[in-house]
Amino acid sequence: MIGSDPSHDHAAAVDQTGSFPPGFLWGAGTSAYQIEGSLDADGRGESVWDVFARRPGAIEGGGDASIACDSYRRWKDDVDLIGELGLRAYRFSVAWSRIMPDGRGRVESRGLDHYERFVDALLERDVTPVLTLNHWDMPQALMADGGWAGRSSVDAFAEFTAAVAERLADRVSWWITQNEPWIIALLGYRLGLHAPGIKDLAASVAAGHHVMLAHGAGADVLRRYPGVRVGAAPNLLPCEPASEDERDVAAAWASDGYCNRWFLDPLFGRGYPADMREHYERALGRELTEIRDGDEEAIAGRSDFLGVNYYTRRVMAAGEPDGADQPFPWRVVSPREQVPRTDEATEIAPTSFRELLIRLHREYDGVPLLITENGGVFGDTPAHDGGVHDVRRTSFLRSHVNAMAQAMAAGADVRGYLHWSLLDNFEWALGYRPRFGLVHVDYRTGERTIKDSALAYAELIRTGHLPE
Ligand code: NOJ
Repeated sequence: MIGSDPSHDHAAAVDQTGSFPPGFLWGAGTSAYQIEGSLDADGRGESVWDVFARRPGAIEGGGDASIACDSYRRWKDDVDLIGELGLRAYRFSVAWSRIMPDGRGRVESRGLDHYERFVDALLERDVTPVLTLNHWDMPQALMADGGWAGRSSVDAFAEFTAAVAERLADRVSWWITQNEPWIIALLGYRLGLHAPGIKDLAASVAAGHHVMLAHGAGADVLRRYPGVRVGAAPNLLPCEPASEDERDVAAAWASDGYCNRWFLDPLFGRGYPADMREHYERALGRELTEIRDGDEEAIAGRSDFLGVNYYTRRVMAAGEPDGADQPFPWRVVSPREQVPRTDEATEIAPTSFRELLIRLHREYDGVPLLITENGGVFGDTPAHDGGVHDVRRTSFLRSHVNAMAQAMAAGADVRGYLHWSLLDNFEWALGYRPRFGLVHVDYRTGERTIKDSALAYAELIRTGHLPE
């Protein structure tokens, strides 16, 4: 099944790629910790990931991010690549501990200087910067108060936001406060698979809530600057029932509450969904006292757009908790039919992408959408001719771009598509094995090689069509 052609999927059947509006933000993304390296440069403080990565067994292959793509030093090469591919937008993150090395108080201007140079270089090439504030690398100093599990993280994030905004809000208009709140809460504070490596349901619920509150607090800071647009970028995971049996349908809806509605509903003024709140209260045996009066109001109505990180769907059935990811009465099952998969065995599901975008448009009042991540692991290495012939990535791109075009034809207001990722990079606990890049990185030498998928994407951006 690995390597099967996703173009058989329904969403790929019609080529609608010619119909994108002018100014559509075609681009790619990365995050600071995954590409920069230079962890001691220019007064950077320690981040939670520096500490977590030192735990024996935390990172597959035993690697760390001390060099990664070496992008802190090679940032000009990255900007050249972005220019060469004709990207119109680039999503990157500002390393929190480069700006606030002690977590609170002192601002490190050398860190800000770096991102200012970088943003100016993008703007010189007419590339729209899309800036993420928290892409998981919280300063370690904030763990003294529990990290995201402590409520003071909200003020710390607002301070960080203010420092970056003061320097860059005059030239960056697209701001993403939070990347994947669910993953921070689940992998960081419940399963212990990401930094800070905590395994505690109560801490996880608190962390998720504080991440959301911090979105509100950060947005309040950013909205003082004219022309700035603010959004969060949740990872959204359509939960589809394994059968038409009403118990499976109910399981799919309940798990949608867990992955999706828990974050979407408060962002758009509906508060936390009551059904999921009950599940959490049952699991914890108490009320969710961390959600205080006024908190839901402080999260709501502060999003100019919604970032969408989309990778796959999941199929749900009623049943006992599987123990793997949650204590709730539903479980993830394999789809009945044979499905195409990436090299990490993730199902390739563009039709669910289309349906998700249409659903977001309908349920959240036509909110402008920015695809902040979409991509897959295809492990192709350079061939004898020096090229990287990653045809499966190109077909992944084709099927998802078509799905997005179909959603737009159905009314979804999608403003841009940022493929994950520009570069192969440090994939968190999985180390360097999974390769998500449009550009191959040789981690021994730092050499970048443009893959065939990137050439196809460049043609799409130039002409409005993917080459056959
Ligand atoms: C989610 C994260 O935002 C990003 O950091 C990660 O590399 C990709 N998705 C792929 O797993």
